[in-house]
Amino acid sequence: MTWLITGGAGYIGAHVARAMTDAGERVVALDDLSAGSPARLSADVPLVRGSSLDGELLKRVLAEHGVTGVVHLAARKQVAESVAQPTRYYRENVGGLATLLDAVAEAGVAHFVFSSSAAVYGDPGVDLITEDTPCAPVNPYGETKLAGEWLVRAAGRAHGIATVCLRYFNVAGAAAPELADTGVFNIVPMVFDRLTRDEAPRIFGDDYPTPDGTCIRDYIHVADLADAHLAAARRLSDGDLTGDLTVNIGRGEGVSVRELIAVVGEVTGDTRAPLVEGRRPGDAPRAVASASRAAERLGWTARRSVHEMVDSAWRGWRLHRGT
Ligand SMILES: NC(=O)c1ccc[n+]([C@@H]2O[C@H](COP(=O)([O-])OP(=O)(O)OC[C@H]3O[C@@H](n4cnc5c(N)ncnc54)[C@H](O)[C@@H]3O)[C@@H](O)[C@H]2O)c1
Repeated sequence: MTWLITGGAGYIGAHVARAMTDAGERVVALDDLSAGSPARLSADVPLVRGSSLDGELLKRVLAEHGVTGVVHLAARKQVAESVAQPTRYYRENVGGLATLLDAVAEAGVAHFVFSSSAAVYGDPGVDLITEDTPCAPVNPYGETKLAGEWLVRAAGRAHGIATVCLRYFNVAGAAAPELADTGVFNIVPMVFDRLTRDEAPRIFGDDYPTPDGTCIRDYIHVADLADAHLAAARRLSDGDLTGDLTVNIGRGEGVSVRELIAVVGEVTGDTRAPLVEGRRPGDAPRAVASASRAAERLGWTARRSVHEMVDSAWRGWRLHRGT
Protein backbone atom coordinates (compact mmCIF):
# COMPACT_ATOMS: atom_id res chain seq x y z
CA MET A 1 0.00 0.00 0.00
CA THR A 2 1.18 3.51 -0.77
CA TRP A 3 -0.90 6.47 0.40
CA LEU A 4 -0.88 9.84 -1.33
CA ILE A 5 -1.33 12.65 1.19
CA THR A 6 -2.39 15.87 -0.51
CA GLY A 7 -1.62 18.94 1.57
CA GLY A 8 1.04 16.76 3.23
CA ALA A 9 3.33 19.70 4.00
CA GLY A 10 0.56 21.51 5.91
CA TYR A 11 -0.17 21.51 9.62
CA ILE A 12 -2.49 18.49 9.74
CA GLY A 13 -1.07 16.75 6.65
CA ALA A 14 2.44 16.59 8.13
CA HIS A 15 1.01 15.03 11.31
CA VAL A 16 -0.87 12.46 9.21
CA ALA A 17 2.30 11.70 7.22
CA ARG A 18 4.25 11.19 10.44
CA ALA A 19 1.59 9.00 12.09
CA MET A 20 1.31 6.83 8.98
CA THR A 21 5.06 6.41 8.41
CA ASP A 22 5.60 5.71 12.14
CA ALA A 23 3.02 2.94 11.78
CA GLY A 24 4.91 1.46 8.82
CA GLU A 25 2.77 2.80 5.95
CA ARG A 26 4.42 4.05 2.78
CA VAL A 27 3.37 7.62 1.93
CA VAL A 28 4.02 10.27 -0.70
CA ALA A 29 3.05 13.90 -0.13
CA LEU A 30 1.73 16.37 -2.68
CA ASP A 31 1.58 20.05 -1.81
CA ASP A 32 1.65 23.31 -3.76
CA LEU A 33 3.39 24.92 -0.75
CA SER A 34 0.94 27.84 -0.77
CA ALA A 35 0.66 27.36 2.99
CA GLY A 36 2.84 24.34 3.74
CA SER A 37 6.51 23.88 4.43
CA PRO A 38 8.75 21.00 3.22
CA ALA A 39 10.62 21.22 6.56
CA ARG A 40 7.59 19.60 8.24
CA LEU A 41 8.23 16.35 6.38
CA SER A 42 10.89 13.81 7.26
CA ALA A 43 13.44 12.79 4.64
CA ASP A 44 11.77 9.42 4.02
CA VAL A 45 8.58 11.07 2.72
CA PRO A 46 8.86 12.07 -0.95
CA LEU A 47 7.28 15.49 -1.59
CA VAL A 48 5.83 16.33 -5.00
CA ARG A 49 5.38 20.06 -5.39
CA GLY A 50 2.18 20.66 -7.33
CA SER A 51 -1.52 21.41 -7.22
CA SER A 52 -4.64 19.30 -6.86
CA LEU A 53 -5.88 21.32 -9.85
CA ASP A 54 -3.21 19.76 -12.11
CA GLY A 55 -4.83 16.57 -13.42
CA GLU A 56 -1.87 15.43 -15.51
CA LEU A 57 0.51 15.74 -12.56
CA LEU A 58 -1.91 13.82 -10.33
CA LYS A 59 -2.17 10.94 -12.82
CA ARG A 60 1.63 10.79 -13.07
CA VAL A 61 2.10 10.77 -9.28
CA LEU A 62 -0.53 8.06 -8.76
CA ALA A 63 1.11 5.86 -11.41
CA GLU A 64 4.78 6.51 -10.55
CA HIS A 65 4.32 5.86 -6.84
CA GLY A 66 1.90 2.95 -7.22
CA VAL A 67 -0.65 4.79 -5.05
CA THR A 68 -3.41 2.57 -3.64
CA GLY A 69 -5.13 5.09 -1.35
CA VAL A 70 -5.47 8.86 -1.02
CA VAL A 71 -5.85 11.13 2.02
CA HIS A 72 -7.02 14.47 0.64
CA LEU A 73 -6.27 17.42 2.91
CA ALA A 74 -5.17 20.06 0.37
CA ALA A 75 -7.60 22.96 0.60
CA ARG A 76 -7.97 26.58 1.51
CA LYS A 77 -9.35 26.88 5.04
CA GLN A 78 -9.92 30.47 6.10
CA VAL A 79 -13.55 31.33 6.70
CA ALA A 80 -13.22 35.11 6.24
CA GLU A 81 -11.22 34.64 3.03
CA SER A 82 -13.93 32.28 1.75
CA VAL A 83 -16.56 34.97 2.32
CA ALA A 84 -14.45 37.48 0.35
CA GLN A 85 -13.36 35.03 -2.39
CA PRO A 86 -16.08 32.38 -2.79
CA THR A 87 -15.23 31.50 -6.41
CA ARG A 88 -11.63 30.79 -5.45
CA TYR A 89 -12.78 28.53 -2.60
CA TYR A 90 -15.18 26.59 -4.83
CA ARG A 91 -12.55 26.35 -7.60
CA GLU A 92 -9.74 25.13 -5.33
CA ASN A 93 -11.63 23.09 -2.72
CA VAL A 94 -14.35 21.57 -4.91
CA GLY A 95 -12.68 21.85 -8.35
CA GLY A 96 -9.38 20.48 -6.99
CA LEU A 97 -11.26 17.58 -5.43
CA ALA A 98 -13.09 16.79 -8.70
CA THR A 99 -9.80 16.80 -10.61
CA LEU A 100 -8.24 14.50 -8.02
CA LEU A 101 -11.22 12.11 -8.05
CA ASP A 102 -11.01 11.85 -11.86
CA ALA A 103 -7.35 10.87 -11.58
CA VAL A 104 -8.11 8.45 -8.73
CA ALA A 105 -10.89 6.77 -10.73
CA GLU A 106 -8.73 6.49 -13.84
CA ALA A 107 -5.84 4.98 -11.85
CA GLY A 108 -8.14 2.46 -10.15
CA VAL A 109 -7.28 3.70 -6.63
CA ALA A 110 -9.70 1.98 -4.27
CA HIS A 111 -9.52 4.01 -1.03
CA PHE A 112 -10.15 7.69 -0.34
CA VAL A 113 -10.15 9.73 2.90
CA PHE A 114 -11.47 13.30 2.76
CA SER A 115 -10.81 16.14 5.24
CA SER A 116 -14.19 17.57 6.05
CA SER A 117 -15.08 19.91 8.88
CA ALA A 118 -17.60 20.62 11.61
CA ALA A 119 -18.23 23.75 9.51
CA VAL A 120 -20.67 21.61 7.47
CA TYR A 121 -23.13 21.77 10.39
CA GLY A 122 -23.29 25.56 10.75
CA ASP A 123 -25.17 26.37 13.96
CA PRO A 124 -27.37 23.32 14.60
CA GLY A 125 -28.44 24.30 18.13
CA VAL A 126 -28.11 20.80 19.61
CA ASP A 127 -26.24 19.59 22.66
CA LEU A 128 -24.23 16.91 20.83
CA ILE A 129 -23.85 16.98 17.05
CA THR A 130 -24.25 13.53 15.50
CA GLU A 131 -23.44 12.73 11.90
CA ASP A 132 -27.21 12.69 11.25
CA THR A 133 -27.65 16.27 12.49
CA PRO A 134 -28.77 18.29 9.44
CA CYS A 135 -25.96 20.14 7.65
CA ALA A 136 -26.45 23.87 7.05
CA PRO A 137 -23.08 25.60 6.58
CA VAL A 138 -23.05 29.34 7.23
CA ASN A 139 -20.09 30.35 5.03
CA PRO A 140 -18.57 29.38 1.66
CA TYR A 141 -15.74 27.44 3.34
CA GLY A 142 -18.27 25.14 5.04
CA GLU A 143 -20.26 24.90 1.80
CA THR A 144 -17.17 23.68 -0.09
CA LYS A 145 -16.65 20.97 2.55
CA LEU A 146 -20.28 19.82 2.32
CA ALA A 147 -20.23 19.87 -1.50
CA GLY A 148 -16.90 18.01 -1.27
CA GLU A 149 -18.53 15.26 0.79
CA TRP A 150 -21.36 14.90 -1.75
CA LEU A 151 -18.80 14.66 -4.53
CA VAL A 152 -16.67 12.10 -2.67
CA ARG A 153 -19.67 9.85 -2.03
CA ALA A 154 -21.01 10.15 -5.59
CA ALA A 155 -17.60 9.43 -7.14
CA GLY A 156 -17.13 6.53 -4.71
CA ARG A 157 -20.44 5.00 -5.83
CA ALA A 158 -19.74 5.61 -9.53
CA HIS A 159 -16.22 4.18 -9.53
CA GLY A 160 -16.20 1.63 -6.72
CA ILE A 161 -13.99 3.67 -4.38
CA ALA A 162 -14.45 3.10 -0.63
CA THR A 163 -14.58 6.54 1.00
CA VAL A 164 -14.34 8.09 4.47
CA CYS A 165 -15.23 11.72 5.21
CA LEU A 166 -13.73 12.90 8.52
CA ARG A 167 -15.49 15.93 10.01
CA TYR A 168 -12.85 17.52 12.21
CA PHE A 169 -13.92 19.70 15.11
CA ASN A 170 -11.47 22.33 16.52
CA VAL A 171 -7.93 21.17 15.92
CA ALA A 172 -5.08 22.32 18.18
CA GLY A 173 -1.67 21.27 19.48
CA ALA A 174 1.34 19.63 17.89
CA ALA A 175 2.95 16.18 18.09
CA ALA A 176 6.34 17.95 18.03
CA PRO A 177 7.14 21.68 18.18
CA GLU A 178 8.41 21.80 14.58
CA LEU A 179 5.03 20.50 13.31
CA ALA A 180 2.99 23.24 15.01
CA ASP A 181 0.47 25.42 13.20
CA THR A 182 2.22 28.67 12.32
CA GLY A 183 -0.96 30.56 11.33
CA VAL A 184 -2.89 32.80 13.71
CA PHE A 185 -6.43 31.85 12.64
CA ASN A 186 -7.63 29.67 15.51
CA ILE A 187 -8.27 30.52 19.14
CA VAL A 188 -5.15 28.94 20.70
CA PRO A 189 -2.61 30.80 18.52
CA MET A 190 -4.77 33.95 18.73
CA VAL A 191 -4.50 33.91 22.54
CA PHE A 192 -0.74 33.21 22.35
CA ASP A 193 -0.39 36.12 19.93
CA ARG A 194 -2.09 38.52 22.34
CA LEU A 195 0.03 37.37 25.31
CA THR A 196 3.23 37.62 23.27
CA ARG A 197 2.29 41.25 22.47
CA ASP A 198 1.77 41.84 26.19
CA GLU A 199 -1.98 42.22 25.63
CA ALA A 200 -4.90 40.52 27.37
CA PRO A 201 -6.63 37.72 25.42
CA ARG A 202 -9.95 38.71 23.91
CA ILE A 203 -13.32 37.02 24.38
CA PHE A 204 -15.86 37.78 21.67
CA GLY A 205 -19.13 37.77 23.56
CA ASP A 206 -19.90 36.53 27.06
CA ASP A 207 -23.68 36.72 26.79
CA TYR A 208 -24.28 33.44 24.95
CA PRO A 209 -26.76 30.92 26.43
CA THR A 210 -23.95 28.79 27.94
CA PRO A 211 -22.96 28.29 31.61
CA ASP A 212 -20.24 30.97 31.61
CA GLY A 213 -21.69 32.96 28.70
CA THR A 214 -18.83 32.19 26.28
CA CYS A 215 -18.93 29.92 23.23
CA ILE A 216 -18.32 26.20 23.69
CA ARG A 217 -16.25 24.11 21.29
CA ASP A 218 -14.86 20.58 21.02
CA TYR A 219 -11.05 20.74 20.84
CA ILE A 220 -9.13 17.81 19.37
CA HIS A 221 -5.37 17.26 19.59
CA VAL A 222 -3.85 17.10 16.12
CA ALA A 223 -1.95 13.93 17.10
CA ASP A 224 -5.27 12.24 17.94
CA LEU A 225 -6.66 13.51 14.64
CA ALA A 226 -3.67 12.02 12.80
CA ASP A 227 -4.33 8.69 14.53
CA ALA A 228 -7.93 8.86 13.29
CA HIS A 229 -6.62 9.08 9.70
CA LEU A 230 -4.39 6.08 10.32
CA ALA A 231 -7.37 4.16 11.74
CA ALA A 232 -9.47 5.05 8.68
CA ALA A 233 -6.66 4.10 6.28
CA ARG A 234 -6.15 0.76 8.03
CA ARG A 235 -9.87 -0.07 8.04
CA LEU A 236 -10.05 0.75 4.33
CA SER A 237 -7.02 -1.30 3.36
CA ASP A 238 -8.13 -4.23 5.56
CA GLY A 239 -11.48 -4.26 3.74
CA ASP A 240 -13.38 -3.49 6.98
CA LEU A 241 -14.84 -0.35 5.42
CA THR A 242 -16.56 -0.56 2.08
CA GLY A 243 -18.98 1.94 0.59
CA ASP A 244 -18.88 5.26 2.40
CA LEU A 245 -18.52 6.44 5.98
CA THR A 246 -18.93 9.95 7.37
CA VAL A 247 -17.72 10.46 10.88
CA ASN A 248 -17.16 13.23 13.45
CA ILE A 249 -13.65 13.59 14.84
CA GLY A 250 -13.81 15.26 18.23
CA ARG A 251 -13.46 14.49 21.92
CA GLY A 252 -17.18 14.70 22.60
CA GLU A 253 -16.57 17.25 25.37
CA GLY A 254 -17.33 20.94 25.35
CA VAL A 255 -14.80 23.53 26.55
CA SER A 256 -15.80 27.20 26.81
CA VAL A 257 -13.62 30.03 25.58
CA ARG A 258 -13.18 31.16 29.16
CA GLU A 259 -12.11 27.67 30.24
CA LEU A 260 -9.67 27.41 27.34
CA ILE A 261 -8.09 30.76 28.22
CA ALA A 262 -7.70 29.52 31.81
CA VAL A 263 -5.77 26.47 30.50
CA VAL A 264 -3.56 28.81 28.47
CA GLY A 265 -2.91 30.71 31.72
CA GLU A 266 -1.89 27.47 33.49
CA VAL A 267 0.47 26.54 30.66
CA THR A 268 2.06 29.95 30.03
CA GLY A 269 1.93 31.29 33.58
CA ASP A 270 0.27 34.42 32.19
CA THR A 271 -3.06 34.57 33.97
CA ARG A 272 -4.10 38.12 33.17
CA ALA A 273 -7.86 38.66 32.92
CA PRO A 274 -9.32 38.46 29.40
CA LEU A 275 -10.97 41.45 27.75
CA VAL A 276 -14.61 40.92 26.85
CA GLU A 277 -15.67 42.41 23.52
CA GLY A 278 -18.81 42.13 21.40
CA ARG A 279 -19.93 38.98 19.62
CA ARG A 280 -18.47 38.18 16.19
CA PRO A 281 -21.02 37.46 13.48
CA GLY A 282 -21.45 33.77 12.67
CA ASP A 283 -20.16 32.26 15.94
CA ALA A 284 -22.42 29.42 17.09
CA PRO A 285 -22.91 29.27 20.89
CA ARG A 286 -22.05 25.57 21.06
CA ALA A 287 -20.50 22.98 18.73
CA VAL A 288 -19.61 19.66 20.36
CA ALA A 289 -19.30 16.32 18.58
CA SER A 290 -20.92 13.06 19.38
CA ALA A 291 -17.81 10.89 19.15
CA SER A 292 -19.52 7.50 19.32
CA ARG A 293 -19.61 6.66 15.60
CA ALA A 294 -15.82 7.12 15.34
CA ALA A 295 -15.35 4.72 18.26
CA GLU A 296 -17.69 2.14 16.73
CA ARG A 297 -16.65 2.30 13.09
CA LEU A 298 -12.97 3.29 13.29
CA GLY A 299 -12.11 1.87 16.69
CA TRP A 300 -10.66 5.29 17.43
CA THR A 301 -11.13 7.58 20.45
CA ALA A 302 -9.24 10.76 21.32
CA ARG A 303 -6.71 10.20 24.11
CA ARG A 304 -5.08 13.57 24.70
CA SER A 305 -6.36 16.30 27.04
CA VAL A 306 -6.95 19.99 26.41
CA HIS A 307 -3.99 20.72 28.67
CA GLU A 308 -1.72 18.57 26.47
CA MET A 309 -3.04 20.38 23.39
CA VAL A 310 -2.32 23.83 24.76
CA ASP A 311 1.04 22.82 26.23
CA SER A 312 2.25 21.29 22.94
CA ALA A 313 0.93 24.26 20.95
CA TRP A 314 2.80 26.63 23.29
CA ARG A 315 6.08 24.74 22.75
CA GLY A 316 5.53 25.05 18.98
CA TRP A 317 4.67 28.74 19.27
CA ARG A 318 7.86 29.43 21.22
CA LEU A 319 9.99 27.52 18.72
CA HIS A 320 8.54 29.36 15.71
CA ARG A 321 8.37 32.82 17.33
CA GLY A 322 11.62 32.53 19.25
CA THR A 323 9.92 33.63 22.51
N1 LIG B 1 -7.04 23.25 11.03
C1 LIG B 1 -8.30 23.01 11.36
O1 LIG B 1 -8.75 23.36 12.46
C2 LIG B 1 -9.23 22.27 10.40
C3 LIG B 1 -10.54 21.97 10.82
C4 LIG B 1 -11.37 21.28 9.94
C5 LIG B 1 -10.92 20.90 8.70
N2 LIG B 1 -9.66 21.23 8.30
C6 LIG B 1 -9.22 20.81 6.97
O2 LIG B 1 -8.00 20.07 7.09
C7 LIG B 1 -7.21 20.24 5.93
C8 LIG B 1 -5.80 20.63 6.33
O3 LIG B 1 -5.86 21.81 7.11
P1 LIG B 1 -4.57 22.45 7.82
O4 LIG B 1 -5.04 23.08 9.06
O5 LIG B 1 -3.49 21.46 7.86
O6 LIG B 1 -4.24 23.61 6.79
P2 LIG B 1 -2.85 24.01 6.10
O7 LIG B 1 -3.11 25.26 5.32
O8 LIG B 1 -1.74 23.99 7.08
O9 LIG B 1 -2.64 22.79 5.10
C9 LIG B 1 -3.18 22.72 3.81
C10 LIG B 1 -2.04 22.33 2.90
O10 LIG B 1 -2.55 22.16 1.58
C11 LIG B 1 -1.72 22.86 0.68
N3 LIG B 1 -2.60 23.24 -0.43
C12 LIG B 1 -3.63 24.12 -0.41
N4 LIG B 1 -4.26 24.12 -1.59
C13 LIG B 1 -3.62 23.21 -2.37
C14 LIG B 1 -3.81 22.73 -3.70
N5 LIG B 1 -4.79 23.21 -4.47
N6 LIG B 1 -2.98 21.79 -4.17
C15 LIG B 1 -1.97 21.28 -3.40
N7 LIG B 1 -1.74 21.70 -2.14
C16 LIG B 1 -2.56 22.65 -1.63
C17 LIG B 1 -1.12 24.01 1.44
O11 LIG B 1 0.13 24.44 0.92
C18 LIG B 1 -0.97 23.40 2.83
O12 LIG B 1 0.30 22.80 3.00
C19 LIG B 1 -7.93 21.27 5.07
O13 LIG B 1 -8.71 20.56 4.11
C20 LIG B 1 -8.84 21.97 6.06
O14 LIG B 1 -9.98 22.51 5.43
C21 LIG B 1 -8.79 21.90 9.13
